[in-house]
Amino acid sequence: MSEASDVFPAIKAPDTTAPLLEAIAHRWSPRAFLDKAVPADVLKTLFEAARWAASCFNEQPWRYCVALKADAEGFEKLLSILAPKNQEWAKGAPVLLLSMGRKTFTHNNAVNRHGLHDTGAASATLAIQAASMGLQLHQMAGFDADKARLVLKIPAEFEPAAAGALGYPGPASTLPETFQKGELAPRPRKPLGEILFNAAFGSALKV
Ligand SMILES: Cc1cc2nc3c(=O)[nH]c(=O)nc-3n(C[C@H](O)[C@H](O)[C@H](O)COP(=O)(O)O)c2cc1C
Repeated sequence: MSEASDVFPAIKAPDTTAPLLEAIAHRWSPRAFLDKAVPADVLKTLFEAARWAASCFNEQPWRYCVALKADAEGFEKLLSILAPKNQEWAKGAPVLLLSMGRKTFTHNNAVNRHGLHDTGAASATLAIQAASMGLQLHQMAGFDADKARLVLKIPAEFEPAAAGALGYPGPASTLPETFQKGELAPRPRKPLGEILFNAAFGSALKV
């Protein structure tokens, strides 16, 4: 996993300022996927990882609609909610999904301001587990939430969070030309000093 390859181009290796777990360093968002199904036990492991994320009041607000390519009807439904630009590449992934978060707490019906936060944490956990197993999750904000509600029959108390394309990354050369440059571009990040403050916002914590 740590070695550069045609599915993990060296350019995607992060320029870290501290050593990281390999699965964190090697998680990225590919658009090219191998035409290779994700076995059921692998899929189970990934969602089991999501299941163990932390959440406010242990609400576990996350839910996932998932379709494998073998389920042509389900796959088409999930593909149809994506923005056209995302459809162009995501149709090549073996698994499509949509995450959603419950908007209120089950125990008192109060608004859960952290429902989407915790759903994101569950998806991040899934993504890292996936990277550790040679798969990648590419999340997408580019989808039609209203259409998702209709097509996937999402109850009103849930908020669609992010769509995702999941599978084994493939060579950039398999992508339509418009996506190839991005697939082989570096993964820029803000410096730590820009995101990490001491007790005064904007004042960098020295690490
Ligand atoms: C919530 C969310 C929404 C995103 N939406 C899209 C999208 O609609 N289309 C797309 O191609 N990539 C999308 N991305 C992928 C980001 O562009 C990508 O994570 C970012 O550029 C960092 O690259 P990396 O994940 O390879 O480190 C999204 C990522 C997240 C987490």
